Amino acid sequence: MTNFAEDVIAGVTGHMNVDHQEDSLLIARAFGYPEATASTMVGVTGEAGIWRVTDPSGEHELSVAWPSAPLTERAQIRRDVVLVYRAACKTLGVVARQEHESELKSEHGAHDAHDHAAQGGHSHGAHGAHGEKGHHGHGGGHGGGNPHASTEEYAEGEKPFSVVMRESSWGDHSDSEGASFMEDIMRGKATKQDYIDLSVQHYFMYEALESATAQFADNATMASFHRSELERLDALKLDLAHLIGADWADKVAPVPATAEYAARIRECAAEGWVAGIVAHHYTRYLGDLSGGQIIARRVSKQHDLEHAGVAFYDFTTLGSLTDFKNEYRGALDALGATLSEDEQKRMLDEVRAAYGFNTAVFVDLGKAKAAAAI
Ligand code: HEM
Repeated sequence: MTNFAEDVIAGVTGHMNVDHQEDSLLIARAFGYPEATASTMVGVTGEAGIWRVTDPSGEHELSVAWPSAPLTERAQIRRDVVLVYRAACKTLGVVARQEHESELKSEHGAHDAHDHAAQGGHSHGAHGAHGEKGHHGHGGGHGGGNPHASTEEYAEGEKPFSVVMRESSWGDHSDSEGASFMEDIMRGKATKQDYIDLSVQHYFMYEALESATAQFADNATMASFHRSELERLDALKLDLAHLIGADWADKVAPVPATAEYAARIRECAAEGWVAGIVAHHYTRYLGDLSGGQIIARRVSKQHDLEHAGVAFYDFTTLGSLTDFKNEYRGALDALGATLSEDEQKRMLDEVRAAYGFNTAVFVDLGKAKAAAAI
């Protein structure tokens, strides 16, 4: 078996997870997990590409054999990923993008990945339809995918509120995810100081969010979303003490966007607007339980952090993250059913605003970094 160098694997998986999340999701759906909601490329060998796939029944490892295995060079990986992607498109009846054409032409002897996979035994996934279905199988939108490419059809006016929420805000999610400060962290281009600066901003965000949540602890709606295991402040204090030192509290300050973000959360609380607080709760915690987990893996590897320093991302006490997220979406659906159309719209706007604040924080952090470099 060919073992590619660590930097090659990191380069390929990093590129796939940042720029081709949608394609990884397509691959997962075509190669055994038709209801996949997230797919992250986690490994590459000379024989196969490996993805971690989430679907309503849990997390799975998917190994898709390279059509021209064994591969020995990086350029061959690129070519075969494209072949696997095209095969996935063919299986799912999706029109493949024509980029990377040159990579395919430059190589001889590349097999047709679809036919190869169709011979069976090359992708180790749970083939076929899953008997059990968790929540209402969130077909699209996860893993950076396009929520409008949902595999699930809903009758007019019957789309669950959680799906409406994700679909109406996914563009804002992509903006946030694509902010260059965040992208640099994901690509391993950021420094440890960048990560520390981000953790500091999290501290001010969660101070506001968790005090708003605590203020409404007795509220039945709030209680249907919140679990004490979600609370991040203690973990953040531990991380900051480890990253900055015991006197960290004297050395930290919010950037302007974080201060505005926190003020907005406090405003929702002062108004007693529970759906507004839930909008912020959703945007942060579901993000931490999703992309946050990918960020944690990157950062802990790059900066050699085990627990202290990345405790913020550790939700072990919550149990299965997939189950929790499904329950959370069920609570969103239940809340949506109690809201008027105007109230729903207001809440959806607040989710979009929350993403906007997060993006603005990345922009401010980028500016602060640029200013410090002068
Ligand atoms: C590089 C950065 C990011 C990556 C790689 C990323 C990745 C992902 C992935 C893979 C999912 C789908 C997970 C699943 O359905 O189980 C997701 C969902 C989500 N992310 Fe992100 N994300 C990033 C940044 C952010 C940011 C900055 C926020 C906002 C603070 C955020 C908020 C969310 C939310 C709320 C969801 C749940 C959407 C839903 O299903 O309703 N993400 N993210």
